[in-house]
Amino acid sequence: MEALQRAAQALASARNVLAITGAGISAESGIPTFRGAGGLWEGFRAEELATPEAFGRDPELVWRWYRWRRDICSKAAPNPAHVALVELESRFEEFLLATQNVDGLHPRAGSRKLIEIHGNIDTARCTKCSAILPLDDASEIPGSQVPSCPRCTGRMRPHILWFGETYWPGVLDKAFAAASRANAVLVIGTSAQVWPPAQIALQAQKSGATLIDVNPQPTEISAAADVFLQGKAGDLVPALLHACDRVCGEGIRTS
Ligand code: APR
Repeated sequence: MEALQRAAQALASARNVLAITGAGISAESGIPTFRGAGGLWEGFRAEELATPEAFGRDPELVWRWYRWRRDICSKAAPNPAHVALVELESRFEEFLLATQNVDGLHPRAGSRKLIEIHGNIDTARCTKCSAILPLDDASEIPGSQVPSCPRCTGRMRPHILWFGETYWPGVLDKAFAAASRANAVLVIGTSAQVWPPAQIALQAQKSGATLIDVNPQPTEISAAADVFLQGKAGDLVPALLHACDRVCGEGIRTS
């Protein structure tokens, strides 16, 4: 309770806020996280399939995995944590949500000040002409999981950042710029095993932001956080929003 109050005070007095989310925020929507129990698919770990090498070796297998995941995502609905983040985005002079998730639940919840730094599962990219298209617009080949480009017939791949690949131009710049201006950085549901997103959060803290971490399990980020809210995002993010409103009602907010 005391931690929630401290986090609420930090948010209530912030002008600029950066939120960073990971797979844990969608766990309560029924989407398995990458590294926890249930993170396996047919005996494969994500790190074995989400690579350019895996795609080069067996594009059918990789697409089968993505189509399975896409099906789960399409049946899932945003949960109260996604919704609370939509509420939060209008309350600050500047707000940015940088998500590592490709499940599309943030845009479906209504988040607009958003960057999907690892891509989106509904999007495909041509390996030949680099066209980026909604997967539904790609040409399906009978008997194959691998769609082809409607423009040049090239093989399409998921438009997702894979292990070993470089972030797309501008994506990290935008997140680091927001980190340098943030008064509070809210990290939700990430194991912080992937370095740039964790680094963005720590950079924000170094630049003066209060680092708030929400996770049922402690991570390296929770260890560094100014406030660690231990628990589920679906409970704690709405609770934080309401606590922040209460603090604002008491007149502590300065912006
Ligand atoms: N609320 C909040 N956090 C939760 C919840 C929940 N209900 N359930 C689980 N978590 C936490 C776990 O404790 C864990 O720390 O979510 C985190 C999920 O960690 P990962 O599965 O490693 O997911 P993420 O951090 O998003 O992975 C980063 O790695 O595989 C790549 O590119 C992929 O974007 C992904 C990146």
